[in-house]
Amino acid sequence: MLDKLNTTTDYLKNIGFKDAHIGIILGTGLGGLVNHLDIEYSIEYKDIPHFPEATVESHSGSLIYGKLEGKQVIVMSGRFHYYEGYSMEEVTFPIRVMKMLGVRTLLVSNAAGGINPDYKPASLMILDDHINMIPANPLVGKNYSKLGPRFVDMSEPYDGKLIKKMEDIAMRLNIHVNKGVYVSWIGPSLETRAEYRFIKIMGADVVGMSTVPEVIVANHMGIKVAAISVVTDLCDPDNLVPVKIEDLLNNAAIAEKDLIVLFSELVKEL
Ligand code: HPA
Repeated sequence: MLDKLNTTTDYLKNIGFKDAHIGIILGTGLGGLVNHLDIEYSIEYKDIPHFPEATVESHSGSLIYGKLEGKQVIVMSGRFHYYEGYSMEEVTFPIRVMKMLGVRTLLVSNAAGGINPDYKPASLMILDDHINMIPANPLVGKNYSKLGPRFVDMSEPYDGKLIKKMEDIAMRLNIHVNKGVYVSWIGPSLETRAEYRFIKIMGADVVGMSTVPEVIVANHMGIKVAAISVVTDLCDPDNLVPVKIEDLLNNAAIAEKDLIVLFSELVKEL
């Protein structure tokens, strides 16, 4: 893995990805932030050595180097999901590469189903904590002490100071955000009514199929994380209607405007 990481990092440095302290992951239906970037270099995942190839249609799949609010950022437009058949190592490989390119703070977005009955579709939730229900962990296997410790502390997976900054920005700009717990579900089938009941009892506010693997690896490598879920649909087990992917993408597009403002303002302050 160390060799692969070095090859990929050297390749990206050679094409111009120099030092960037901030990394951003854009989730499903949330690629619009790209239009706010001064893009310097953009490369498709399939052209990056050792990167897995994106398979889901709604993910454009490229790594972008540029400026947001005058700050140098590396943006993943589209991510890799465990349900696509990638290994946990593959899903989280780009996070390790970002760290080697200088990233110290990672901003993560995702689309998620709302479990908390107070949440509305097309609203935002800051992640305060998570529960990993994907039956795997990216840190299983040999630990490379150069990359991080064997046993990673997870008492504060999402940085408290970054959370506070986002809450202050939201308050100042009159953007409504909730704060809660994200549970990662393996997917790709959506959850049953009984599973939604279980997820609620477990203490989660939203459910999605990503984010947790990347956040675990970011913590392993000492990267500070802030993450936001866009609530795309309501998962009420007693009034469950079949999910339409168009509706999810529609709601993602509505909430994305506020997400872009929050991330942009946060980047300004970093
Ligand atoms: N489950 C339910 N609804 C969702 C999800 C999910 O994983 N992601 C987005 N909406």
